[in-house]
Amino acid sequence: MCGIVGYIGGEQAAPVLLEGLSKLEYRGYDSAGVAVYNESGMHVVKSKGRLAVLEGILDKGEKLPGTVGIGHTRWATHGAPSDVNSHPQVSDGGLFAVVHNGIIENYMQLKEHLMRRGVEFVSDTDTEVVAQMLEHYYRGDVLAAIRQVTQRVEGSYALGIICADCPEKVFAVRKDSPLIVGLSEGQNFIASDVTAILAHTREIVRLRDREIAVLTREGAEFYDEELEPLEKPAETIEWDVAAAEKGGYEHFMMKEICEQPEALLKTISPRIKDGRIVLDDLKLTRADIEKISRVYIVACGTSYHVGAVAKYAFEKLLRMPIETDVASEFRYRDPILDDKTLVIIISQSGETADTLAALREARRQGARTLAIVNVVGSTIANEADDVLYTWAGPEIAVASTKAYSTQLAVIYLIALYMARELGTLTEQELEEYTKALEKLPELAEAALSGRETIQYFASQYFNAKDMYFIGRNVDYAASLEASLKLKEISYIHSEAYTGGELKHGPISLIEEGTLVIALCTCGRLFGKMAANIREVKARGAVVLGLCTEEFAGEMKGVADWQFCVPKVPDFMLPSMSILPLQLFAYYVASMKGCDIDKPRNLAKSVTVE
Ligand code: G6P
Repeated sequence: MCGIVGYIGGEQAAPVLLEGLSKLEYRGYDSAGVAVYNESGMHVVKSKGRLAVLEGILDKGEKLPGTVGIGHTRWATHGAPSDVNSHPQVSDGGLFAVVHNGIIENYMQLKEHLMRRGVEFVSDTDTEVVAQMLEHYYRGDVLAAIRQVTQRVEGSYALGIICADCPEKVFAVRKDSPLIVGLSEGQNFIASDVTAILAHTREIVRLRDREIAVLTREGAEFYDEELEPLEKPAETIEWDVAAAEKGGYEHFMMKEICEQPEALLKTISPRIKDGRIVLDDLKLTRADIEKISRVYIVACGTSYHVGAVAKYAFEKLLRMPIETDVASEFRYRDPILDDKTLVIIISQSGETADTLAALREARRQGARTLAIVNVVGSTIANEADDVLYTWAGPEIAVASTKAYSTQLAVIYLIALYMARELGTLTEQELEEYTKALEKLPELAEAALSGRETIQYFASQYFNAKDMYFIGRNVDYAASLEASLKLKEISYIHSEAYTGGELKHGPISLIEEGTLVIALCTCGRLFGKMAANIREVKARGAVVLGLCTEEFAGEMKGVADWQFCVPKVPDFMLPSMSILPLQLFAYYVASMKGCDIDKPRNLAKSVTVE
């Protein structure tokens, strides 16, 4: 999604803005622009396409002097990707330049109102309305104008604003879209994501909904929506720049795949003490847990696929009805919730618009909410009753890998913790599963170690037009994620089906040479999956069978290719099977020459509906 950077300080702004924007490229975008103020006025340069085009026009920023500015990478929503629709958007009289993340939902109405008063619009964007309104309501006080605008716009926004009348200031305001202020000696920043400014400062202040920041070279002032001053202490970001750099890997995605054993260790080990799961950060008491009669798990994309695994894990361990839903459906389907419902919200970014709306709906209906989030201090983390962090560190590649693995780990932790409180497992089972969980990081290392075999397999099939992933039970849940990974980054059409559903339609798509990846790690269902493999092979499919080591011998006689992963308790199997399949998607995309970290049309953090 879109990215924002703003700067005021002693350095030249344009190179700082371009460098910041380059750190936000991973979020997905289709045009970029900057506005810089200098003695000769406000200068806006923007261009459709990659940031490299803008860097070329500006000679990496050298051609645009000035020490105050805002920059943006745009992911088109209103109006096609084009130079004119790129941000910054500038008001009619050239007084205000604005960068915006989010969507102004009532922009048509506001635009018509202004046009009737003679304001001329040049773009198709909703953002231009903000710039025009600022100038329209401006009577010499920028803060008052911002207040007039935020009182009138509906929707979501993170806004960076500069005004030709106040060249020594950068303004920022947000609602339902993240925005932070970065503080440093003699220079200050705004950004939609901390990675954009991490090279300059780790001291940040997170704006909350409707809060306004005014930055000067010396510092920042904060105001609430009534323009009353606010005290907002800074926090220090713990992870350093290196965590958000490629560190010798060709792509962030490969780096993040390889980081999974460590990320799992960081997520799991502090929460197991003397063989017991300890979730100190959880406010949920035994009495609260006993009251729960139903669990909903709600998320989007890869995080939703964690929910698909969680359904099997929770039902097995807790013997309780569990529903998993995609957030965009959940929020509009009038879910039946009450104070006996636990809603688990899963989100890497903690900012996904639909997931946030689902959380708010759950809270509105009085359900207890628990969020599993990676980004510390994000909106979802702040608004949920409880939050458990996945300690995966920054995930930069659009295709999520280490977030998936660590989210799964937190799901197992919660399920085992609740099972103990509810007494649905024996002491022996609890001990066995907790030990298995502790061993997960080490086993993940082992599952990733057969990399060359996967690479060779990918080299044989990277030209395929379609692929199918089949599995049963948790293997089906893992198939959903494996299939998503492949299509996201390699653009190969792929689908995931349960083994049992094959005969009800998808088998008609199998023809000579079609590649089928059969996930057969669930030992008790191996026989059923072997039958499915034979069915597709009889129709010409080429099959890679994925199983645990104990089924390696049997798999040899069934599939054309095979890959083994370590054995773990059934409900944890996706933590193993997904690893070679993430590698497979990566190698296929790499052999096809795809832009792995920034796949077309996709965004890392989807902050609009
Ligand atoms: C986008 C990303 C996916 C991610 C999904 C949900 O679509 O490209 O990788 O799984 O959003 O994001 P969240 O941050 O809520 O987990």
